[in-house]
Amino acid sequence: MSSKPKVLVTSRIPEEGMRILEEYCHVKVFDYEGVFPRDLFLKEVKGVDAIVCLLADRIDDEVMDAAGPQLKIIANYAVGFDNIVVDAATKRGIMVTNTPGVLTDTTADLAWALILATARRVVEGDKFLRQGKFKGWKPMLLLGTDVHHATLGIIGFGNIGRAVARRAIGFDMKVVYYSAHRASEEVEKKLNAEYRPLDDLLREADFISIHVPLTKETRHLIGERELKMMKKEAYLINTARGPIVDEKALAKALKEGWIRGAGLDVFEREPEVAPELLELDNVVLLPHLGSASYATRAKMATMAAENVIKALKGEVPPNLVNS
Ligand code: DGY
Repeated sequence: MSSKPKVLVTSRIPEEGMRILEEYCHVKVFDYEGVFPRDLFLKEVKGVDAIVCLLADRIDDEVMDAAGPQLKIIANYAVGFDNIVVDAATKRGIMVTNTPGVLTDTTADLAWALILATARRVVEGDKFLRQGKFKGWKPMLLLGTDVHHATLGIIGFGNIGRAVARRAIGFDMKVVYYSAHRASEEVEKKLNAEYRPLDDLLREADFISIHVPLTKETRHLIGERELKMMKKEAYLINTARGPIVDEKALAKALKEGWIRGAGLDVFEREPEVAPELLELDNVVLLPHLGSASYATRAKMATMAAENVIKALKGEVPPNLVNS
């Protein structure tokens, strides 16, 4: 038997990454339609030196115990890494990496797709036409909300939040943002963005787009209280992580008209979606497509694979997240 290191890949990633891994390692790759089954994960992880996992794979003590002490690196195929108990990995000397940067613009584009789709009722319009209901141009047919010159509220002003702000310049929008750390004056000026405390942003914005990571502090950051503070004509966009929004409260808000609409790419209990949301027309629902472009997914694959190889060579991988 060769002494190549062993890597478990919980779901096939693009060839660009697979090729790198296969050159250097023994690769066990799975390709389940849904989430990689936990019992299989616990069985297959035994003895591996590296794991390449997805945001739906929960990596906790149980997985690390099942893997054994030789496990060196957990490479998440995502920028968010709330699915990994990083402290537990750090205690065991296991490196954890993510894929930052490469998906910033692609995710910002999708946030914008949702802003435009919700405001201009793109999905409703498509459905209407396919159902054979389009009988001719009408002055009041499927009226929506203007995006240009409206106020965009961005919650979380890291790379993705800023990329969303940059795109708003072309729509002549006023941009306000909330962030735990206020941006420099230079950044604010460049992006034409003004800082607001969260409650003020909620009251002021016509479109609110969420770009914070999921942490203890941001879980249910947007709940009933916050939704009630928003304008009745406002829209909520979430391309970050589902649990940042209280999904039940949001469904109620959309049904009872506390806000006008929402665009969601992420869900509280992904891949489950609250059944109440499925029944509503004023919400656009996507299956977590934020980074889903050919080019970006290929870059993420290369990055995850390179993180693995570096760690297996005893070097520090470029995208280490352990502190
Ligand atoms: C990430 O990388 O965290 C994204 O949610 C994937 O689209």
